[in-house]
Amino acid sequence: MNLKNVCAATLSFALLGSASAATCDMEIEGNDAMQFNKSSIEVPQSCKQFTVKLKHAGKLPKAAMGHNWVLTTAADMQAVATDGIAAGLDKNYIKAGDTRVIAHTPVVGGGESTSVTFDTNKLKADQSYAFFCSFPGHSALMKGTVKLTK
Ligand code: CO
Repeated sequence: MNLKNVCAATLSFALLGSASAATCDMEIEGNDAMQFNKSSIEVPQSCKQFTVKLKHAGKLPKAAMGHNWVLTTAADMQAVATDGIAAGLDKNYIKAGDTRVIAHTPVVGGGESTSVTFDTNKLKADQSYAFFCSFPGHSALMKGTVKLTK
C-alpha cells in the first residue's frame, strides 16, 4: 500500500466515523408568540445522556410569556400540565415530586437560555413521549413528540 492509499483509507474511515456518531444534544427555541420552533425530537438510543438546550428568543418576561421544556409520556402530558398550574412560577409550573416528569428545565423569559440533561435509559423504544411548556395554557400550542431512535 502506498502513502496515497493509506491517506484515502484514513480519510474515508474518519468520514464514516463522524457520520455514524450520534448527536446527543439539541437546541429548541420558544418565542413571544407562544411557539416552539420544533414539533418533534429524536433521541438516539446510542446516547447515554441527552441534553436539550432551551432558548427563549423573545423579549417578554417569564411572568408573562415564560417557557420551560418538560418531558413526559404522551399519556401523562395533559395531567402534568394541569397539575403544574397550581405549583406556580416559583416551582417552574411543575408539581413537587411529580414522578411522571422524566426531565424538565426551569422556566425562562425573553433572552434567557437554560438546559436539561437526562439519562436516555429512562425512555423505552415502544413508548410515545411528549415535550411541552407547562406555563399555564401554553401546552395547547407548545408541544411536540419525543421518540427514542436506533
Ligand atoms: Co411557554
